[in-house]
Amino acid sequence: MPLPKAELHLHIEGTLEPELAFALAARNGITLPYEDTEALRKAYLFDDLQSFLDLYYGLMAVLLTEEDFEELADAYLARAAEQGVRHAEIFFDPQAHMVRGVDIGTVIEGLGRALDRSEERHGISTRLIMCFLRDQSAESAMETLEAAKPYLDRIIGIGLDSAEVGHPPAKFREVYEAAAAFGLRRVAHAGEEGPPAYITEALDVLGVERIDHGLRCMEDPRLVERLVSERVPLTLCPLSNVRLRAVDVLEEHPLARMMDAGLLCTVNSDDPAYFGGYVDDTFHAVREALGLDRERLRELARNSFEASFLDGSARDEEL
Ligand code: HPA
Ligand code: ZN
Repeated sequence: MPLPKAELHLHIEGTLEPELAFALAARNGITLPYEDTEALRKAYLFDDLQSFLDLYYGLMAVLLTEEDFEELADAYLARAAEQGVRHAEIFFDPQAHMVRGVDIGTVIEGLGRALDRSEERHGISTRLIMCFLRDQSAESAMETLEAAKPYLDRIIGIGLDSAEVGHPPAKFREVYEAAAAFGLRRVAHAGEEGPPAYITEALDVLGVERIDHGLRCMEDPRLVERLVSERVPLTLCPLSNVRLRAVDVLEEHPLARMMDAGLLCTVNSDDPAYFGGYVDDTFHAVREALGLDRERLRELARNSFEASFLDGSARDEEL
């Protein structure tokens, strides 16, 4: 039986399995530049974050209608349930769809249809986190926040993803301030490929409550001390880090050292259709590669609820 857990770092577009991509392409009359699912899978050899993002944004071409987004989310939730997920805080990338002429309402309503049935159908409570693409302008992020206004009751918070290096968190100060004024929670990817200073900036300038990835904090002992003393959660994604070459092999992943240092670590799947495993597969992989014992795995599962945006009573129930 997989441990009950929350998943806090999951891009819904990154759950698009090749089979569903081809099915949606056929339904929508789109020709993919791959012969079949096998040929597509063979393209999943990445050198870095950007080489992954190029394929990830390209494959989104098949997502057009509310039904497409509903099917995508429902397929993820079904797999997540098998992996012991009880609560999921799900990222989506509206700008990657709006640029293709898909309305933000189509994305949110479509995902919402699946999320509305999730507790009943899959036993998973859900929240949505809207991410801004950091390699797009701050103005574009602000326009996206504006466009999301009619749907804010469906969104718990905002995040920041896409190509990190050269796009420091401070670029988005104003949009984070505006989102905070709307009562939205704040998270951001930082310290995946970018330097430890981006983690500090995300905390101090954007006021984030969690850091997505945060791996590179280990290069700065004073930052580690701060993250420990402020109990800032890190949503780590070890399989992603290997596939995108942030670490060479899983055996060298700093997760165990990070837990030893007292950091509030969680383990997540990021883009599971691309990185070779869903969240419980990731728990198994780190257990094998890093020799984590059952108590360590339980700690990671407990941390996932502590770091979640569940409110007090729902969180205490899971803990
Ligand atoms: N990093 C940044 N952006 C992303 C990722 C990631 O791991 N996955 C999807 N968008
Ligand atoms: Zn991510």
